[in-house]
Amino acid sequence: MLIEQGQIPKHIAIIMDGNGRWAKSKGNIRSYGHKAGVDSVRDITEACAQIGVKYLTLYAFSTENWDRPKIEVNALMRLLANSLRKEAENLNENNIKLETIGQIDRFPKKCQRELQEAIELTEGNDRLHLCLALSYSGRWDITEAVKKLAHQVKDGNIDPEDIDDEMISGHLSTADIPDPELIIRTSGEYRLSNFLLWQLAYSELYITETYWPDFRRNELYKAIQSFQQRERRFGKLSEKKQKKSSSLYVQELTP
Ligand code: IPE
Ligand code: IPE
Ligand code: MG
Repeated sequence: MLIEQGQIPKHIAIIMDGNGRWAKSKGNIRSYGHKAGVDSVRDITEACAQIGVKYLTLYAFSTENWDRPKIEVNALMRLLANSLRKEAENLNENNIKLETIGQIDRFPKKCQRELQEAIELTEGNDRLHLCLALSYSGRWDITEAVKKLAHQVKDGNIDPEDIDDEMISGHLSTADIPDPELIIRTSGEYRLSNFLLWQLAYSELYITETYWPDFRRNELYKAIQSFQQRERRFGKLSEKKQKKSSSLYVQELTP
């Protein structure tokens, strides 16, 4: 499979969806799907590091996911803590830096400890930033940024008129990370489910029917191939059309 080395997205974000349906299709309970999903996380993370992606943000648990049955939430918490313990060393050996966005303080203490340890262990790494979105939602992120800015206005440190796009970006949980060029959602759902609402403004969308536990590196390469065939216009005119219209314009001027 051919992907252009020069055009690898710097930041890929993924909504890892479909674990429950994957498990059900195999006659198993939902948590079996979550467990299998961890193997996909490992494979996709390693593949991203190998091909030169610099930032990978994975939607692992949304603010709304707290409203699932307690038994599922607890299983997810256990899986998170166990996976972190098992995978931290592997991440470190692969020179991958672990980060998180979201309300980590809502997680059980055990998860918070495992997260903290893995983050500290991988602190000095720089091949790939793996950012887990945990108890995250885009609206929460924007709300927090608004609060921070409101406090600064109240304290007289900024003038409301100075608030611009860049300042808002700089107060989000992703302040130090470039916006994702590519957002992938698995399991065929055509929605953002409150993921990086601000940051995805101009990201290219790639939706596949594949459930997350079946999403492995070949699927990732397909998504990148699709991305590389897109023309990103950012509201401007097409490069191709521009050339065409400018050559037309020249024709009109020529007697
Ligand atoms: C995604 O899979 C994982 C999380 C949201 C934690 P789901 O658990 O949403 O699986 P489906 O969408 O019900 O199949
Ligand atoms: C989005 O999946 C959240 C994560 C993948 C963590 P959901 O399964 O929670 O989203 P909806 O309910 O289908 O929108
Ligand atoms: Mg789902």
